Amino acid sequence: MKDKLIVFDTTLRDGEQSPGASMTREEKVRIARQLERMRVDIIEAGFPAASNGDFESVKAVADAIKDSTVCGLARALERDIDRAGEALKGARSGRIHTFIATSPIHMEKKLRMSPDQVVEQAVKAVKWARKWTDNVEFSPEDAGRSDPDFLCRILEAVIDAGAGTLNIPDTVGYNLPQQFGQLIATLRERIPNSDKAVFSVHCHNDLGLAVANSLAAVLNGARQVECTINGLGERAGNASLEEIVMAVRTRQDVFTCDTQIDATQIVPASRLVASITGFAVQPNKAIVGANAFAHESGIHQDGVLKHRETYEIMRAEDVGWSANKMVMGKHSGRNAFKTRLAELGIELGSEDALNGAFARFKELADKKHEIFDEDLQALVSDEAAALEQEHYKLVSLKVCSETGETPHATVVVAVNGAEQQAEADGGGPVDAAFKAIDSIVKSGAELQLYSVNNITSGTDAQGEVTVRLSKGGRIVNGQGSDTDIVIASAKSYLHALNKLHSKLERAHPQV
Ligand code: KIV
Ligand code: ZN
Repeated sequence: MKDKLIVFDTTLRDGEQSPGASMTREEKVRIARQLERMRVDIIEAGFPAASNGDFESVKAVADAIKDSTVCGLARALERDIDRAGEALKGARSGRIHTFIATSPIHMEKKLRMSPDQVVEQAVKAVKWARKWTDNVEFSPEDAGRSDPDFLCRILEAVIDAGAGTLNIPDTVGYNLPQQFGQLIATLRERIPNSDKAVFSVHCHNDLGLAVANSLAAVLNGARQVECTINGLGERAGNASLEEIVMAVRTRQDVFTCDTQIDATQIVPASRLVASITGFAVQPNKAIVGANAFAHESGIHQDGVLKHRETYEIMRAEDVGWSANKMVMGKHSGRNAFKTRLAELGIELGSEDALNGAFARFKELADKKHEIFDEDLQALVSDEAAALEQEHYKLVSLKVCSETGETPHATVVVAVNGAEQQAEADGGGPVDAAFKAIDSIVKSGAELQLYSVNNITSGTDAQGEVTVRLSKGGRIVNGQGSDTDIVIASAKSYLHALNKLHSKLERAHPQV
């Protein structure tokens, strides 16, 4: 019998700490549902003490998720732990994750606390968290640069205080695989009560070693890995979930454990996170990059045609790549639509949302004969964005673009329900549309990113547009899709402007 390797996904917490990756409550719930579908064991949904918005998001995820454990992060402070406990009240299974830094540089320069004080505070925090739940995780932040003797001391104390999971973070991505694996082996060997806790690892990718370090830890007895979809996360990111899961699964000859992840949900999860955060996946990214299973060289193509395993160690379909499959058309009815969404694991939550999405489907089917799964997913994302509190709503857009003429846009936007019209010229049709919208909204925001991707192939495909805006230190992303990319662009711009309008302020857990 193989051991179970617990998958702890922190896309919604550490992933969200990537500058520009902030997500709304509804977006977090959508990602959490996809993680649940993928059979992630634990979903770290956020840091409830950071802001009311974070608290509400963790609460919404805790209320929505049934099969995965939902976790909230808390510094080793009673008020943080109480916020996490409150946010997780509705969870079928909840976990509090509390942490304090243990490296000399963090204790001295950041916390200004002595090692004795840090141990005392960690023990107090774990005991306090145990008042809320039996499921408590403790992390000695910057463990990768901490003294192993001190780690043994603090970890032994927190196990006695009631921590069931000990997470060893390489917070700054400093470790090398052999060294990090050895650290886990040493801790397991030297801590007298180590058998009473599960060892977990949480690696950052500053030297590009997050996955390698996590796997080295697993080979040395770690039985929980903390990771994110697409490797999203602070600075260079966290260890990528898809790479860890597939490395362990593909090399079962080496690993004595496996995860319970449904790998066919990996690509849909990757797409969802990329589209919500606006962080595109590089084409050569392992597992989820567009080229991950593409063979360019003739020798490779010939080999794969003769025998797939000559050049492929995994099957594309096992991680969720599917050829664009025509699933529906303009004659498909509401029931077929609902059934296909259910097969894709998409729940719309209410009859209103289903009706709204079905109306969008009919509009799309009029413009595009073949509707693929990817179209349905984009359409549902659009409907979800429309159901969020919309201060600005696109009513209509007309754009004139002609060879030798200056593109011109006329837009009508409902601002809190009241319609306003504006016109503008631009360097291109998208520029003209954005200028017209901005003359109504007067956002003062700076456009940092504009990208268009085709959702499926063909010139009648829907374009999915992502824009990133920044204003006063805040960065937000917006998405929109449509067969007309100028309309998709206007939708994504207004989506981002709505997020800026919502003005959620949040603190950073490690500051
Ligand atoms: O990187 C880190 O140390 C963290 C902790 C809060 C676990 O994210
Ligand atoms: Zn981290």
